[in-house]
Amino acid sequence: MPTTPKTALPTTTKLSWPLMKNNISREDLNAVIDLLQQDDPVLTQSKNVRAFEEEWSRWLGVKHSVFVNSGSSANLITLAALKELYGEGGEVIVPSITWVSDIASVLQCGFKPVFVDIDPRTLGMANDEVLAKLTSRTRAVFLTHVLGFNALSQNLLDVLKSQRIPLIEDVCESHGATFEERKLGTFGKASNFSFYYAHHLSTIEGGMVCTDDPDFYETVRMLRSHGMVRELSSEGRKWDYIEEYPDLNPEFIFAFPAYNVRSTEINAVIGRTQLRRLDENNHRRTTNFMLFLRNLDPDLYRTDFHTEGSCNYAFTLILREPDTILCEKVMAALRANEVEFRRGTAGGGNQLRQPYLRHRLGRDAWKQCPQADHVHFFGFYIGNYPTLEADRILRLCDLLNSITRT
Ligand SMILES: Cc1ncc(COP(=O)(O)O)c(C=O)c1O
Repeated sequence: MPTTPKTALPTTTKLSWPLMKNNISREDLNAVIDLLQQDDPVLTQSKNVRAFEEEWSRWLGVKHSVFVNSGSSANLITLAALKELYGEGGEVIVPSITWVSDIASVLQCGFKPVFVDIDPRTLGMANDEVLAKLTSRTRAVFLTHVLGFNALSQNLLDVLKSQRIPLIEDVCESHGATFEERKLGTFGKASNFSFYYAHHLSTIEGGMVCTDDPDFYETVRMLRSHGMVRELSSEGRKWDYIEEYPDLNPEFIFAFPAYNVRSTEINAVIGRTQLRRLDENNHRRTTNFMLFLRNLDPDLYRTDFHTEGSCNYAFTLILREPDTILCEKVMAALRANEVEFRRGTAGGGNQLRQPYLRHRLGRDAWKQCPQADHVHFFGFYIGNYPTLEADRILRLCDLLNSITRT
């Protein structure tokens, strides 16, 4: 049991701890006001979107980024690009703990999801199980870096490279986290980010698709905007289409049955000001999480996560053993102290238990993933935000450590 330093916050006050606080700052709002005060400002996707994409690409270390209206849209057009570029059908290996849109995009684009259990120390896909499930039908591995933890290993990267299987990284919960000192989101064919409110960077709603591959980039640009050829960045590629379809108005050539998932200048302006604070905020989030882990009782809760390179999204609280009574007591204590939490971590726990999959895969499919199932019932996340005070974190640890087992 760790020795917890005495806290300075009055112990009688409730912790009053939301999932997120102050994520859109006065500075961000002032930048929006500056935009709106311009003479005749352009508000639909324009130069601020382009500038945000370039600045984000530089920050991440990729050649191309495409700003969209959500992380889910990033998931969808990434899988749609995979289908357009590599053909329809086949399997995509996916995690059992992730957000619904990762699996939905696989299904909506006509691929078969093949589920893999989690590694309890990263909450990402167990890499050995991914390797065991690769077949000639595998079209991609779509991996999620959960709550700021890295889910990659060198062995996985080597095997995927040697078998030429595209890796898609969902980094929606892990902006700034690294593997071998390189940012997550730079390892695969493409990566996806979410800028929804509680995330490391927020544009209110928003997302990004990132890639180094020029074909993938151009395809995603068109898919974002109705499949329109005029969205191509390459003049040469535009001319190829125009010459191939002389009967069509060059302004309205639709290459794919696609979507409109564009964002706006307002969201991009917020993203640009947020990006200036991202590294500092990430550092604070990570410091907060390490303080939390150091002071949590390892006999009651998991504290042995692989934290190297991690960049915490939300505090991960997972009971060491399945214990329904302890779990109820934890939830009661958090509620009594007005600490907001989500059971099952970020995505609603074991996806295989969700109705949209039970209908397709059967009522017992969840049994394939016992580690994910432990998180489903005995795992939580609690908000982490840059302005969280050390005292509050220590008081939360005191509270959690004081709960007795059955
Ligand atoms: C892992 C993951 N993928 C995708 C998304 C979807 O992002 P959005 O809420 O911006 O649609 C989320 C949302 O939190 C997420 O956590």
